[in-house]
Amino acid sequence: MKDPVLEKAAVSELARQRGTINLIPSENYASKEIMALLGSPLINKYSEGYPGKRYYPGNALYDTIETLAAERIKKVFRLGADWHVNVQPYSGSGANLAAYLALMQPGETLLGMGLAAGGHLSHGHRVAMPGRLFHSVQYGLGSDGLLDYIEIERMAIQHQAKVIVSGVTSYPRALDFAKFGHAAKKAGAHHVADISHIAGLVAAGLHPSPFPHADVVTSTTHKTLRGPRGAFIACRKDFADRIDRVVFPGLQGGPHNHVTAAIARMGFEALRPDFKKYQKQVLLNAKALAVALIKRGFRLVTDGTDIHLMVIDCSPIPLGGMEAETLLEAAGITANRNAIPGDASPFYPSGVRVGTPAVTTRGMKERDMAAIAGFFERVLVLKEKPASVKKEVEAMMKKFPLYE
Ligand SMILES: Cc1ncc(COP(=O)(O)O)c(C=O)c1O
Repeated sequence: MKDPVLEKAAVSELARQRGTINLIPSENYASKEIMALLGSPLINKYSEGYPGKRYYPGNALYDTIETLAAERIKKVFRLGADWHVNVQPYSGSGANLAAYLALMQPGETLLGMGLAAGGHLSHGHRVAMPGRLFHSVQYGLGSDGLLDYIEIERMAIQHQAKVIVSGVTSYPRALDFAKFGHAAKKAGAHHVADISHIAGLVAAGLHPSPFPHADVVTSTTHKTLRGPRGAFIACRKDFADRIDRVVFPGLQGGPHNHVTAAIARMGFEALRPDFKKYQKQVLLNAKALAVALIKRGFRLVTDGTDIHLMVIDCSPIPLGGMEAETLLEAAGITANRNAIPGDASPFYPSGVRVGTPAVTTRGMKERDMAAIAGFFERVLVLKEKPASVKKEVEAMMKKFPLYE
C-alpha cells in the first residue's frame, strides 16, 4: 500500500544527501549492506537478556549475531580477554548514562568537559540526565585554549570525583588519555572515555587509544565508525556484570537486533584494509581543509585540528554561528553551529563545526577541501548569493556518487 508522503520524503532526502556537501562531523554514510540489515526481518524479534540467557524463545540466531558484534568490536580495538563489550545501548547518551550508573551512586561527583569547551551534553551538562542525577562538575580549557590536565587532576581531587569522563564533540585536538587516567588514579575515580567522535581514528591507530588508561570506553557507532545509529560500552571484565545489568534491565528493554547485526557488519568493514585508508584520508582532508580555511582568513578554534573536525570562530567575520549555518545551508553545505570557548548560549553560538568523515566517504580528496574553503569564503565573507554557489555545489557533488 502506497504512503505517498513518506515515499516522497525518502526520495527528497536522498536527493538532498546526494546534492549537498555534508560537513557535520558526527554524520556519515553507512554502507548499503548496513542499511539492508537495518531494514531486514531481524527488526521483528524480541531478545531481552544477553546471549545464552534470554527472556524470549527463538533467540539462537540472535545470540550468534550479538556475540559476533561484540567479538568484532574487540578485534577492531585490539582488546584482550580482560575486556567485555556490550553492544545493546540504543544511543551514545544512553551508553554514557549506563556507564556512570554502573560506576557511581546518584549524588556522587561526575567530572566532565563543559559544552562550550567541546564536551557533550551527556558529560554532565545541567540540562541532560547525568547532570541532574549526579553532582556535576565541569572542566573547561586553559588560558591557551587547550585542555589543562593539571587543572583537571586538581578539580578531580578537590571535588572527590567518582567518575572523570574524557571525550569530545567539538574540541579539535587529540586527547591525552594517559593524563586523564593518571588524574583518575590520583583522585580515586573511574575513568570513562567517550570516543564517539574519534572511534574510527582510534580503531585505525591514528589517535592514541584510551583502552590502556580507562575503566570503561563508550562510543556511538554512526560517526567515524560509519556503522548504524547505535552505541557500545567496552569495560574491564570486573565491571562487566554491573554494566550489563544497568543496560538491561536497568535502562532498556529488548535490544534492537537489526542494529546489533548492522554493528557486526560495521566491525566486518572496519577490519578490512580499506577502512584504515579511509580514516587516513579523513585526517588528510581535515588538515587540508583547516589550512585552506586559514589561508582564506578564517579563524579556527585552537588554530587548527589534530582530528576529523575543526570549529570556525565566526565572530571576526562578523557573523553569528546561526547566520553562518543558515547561509551555508542555502548554498548546499551542511555544517552545524557550535559553541566555542567563552560562549554562553548553545542555541546562538559563535562557531560553526566542520568535519570530513562524510565527504571522505563520498570520495573527496585534499584538492576538494581547497574548493570547499573557497565556497565558505564566497558565502560567508564575500556575501555572494548562496543560490549561485549552490548550483556549483550540486554540480560538484555529481562527481561523488552516493548509493548508486
Ligand atoms: C562525544 C559524544 N558522546 C555522545 C554522543 C551522543 O550520542 P547519541 O546522539 O547517539 O545519543 C555524542 C553525539 O553527538 C557525542 O558527540
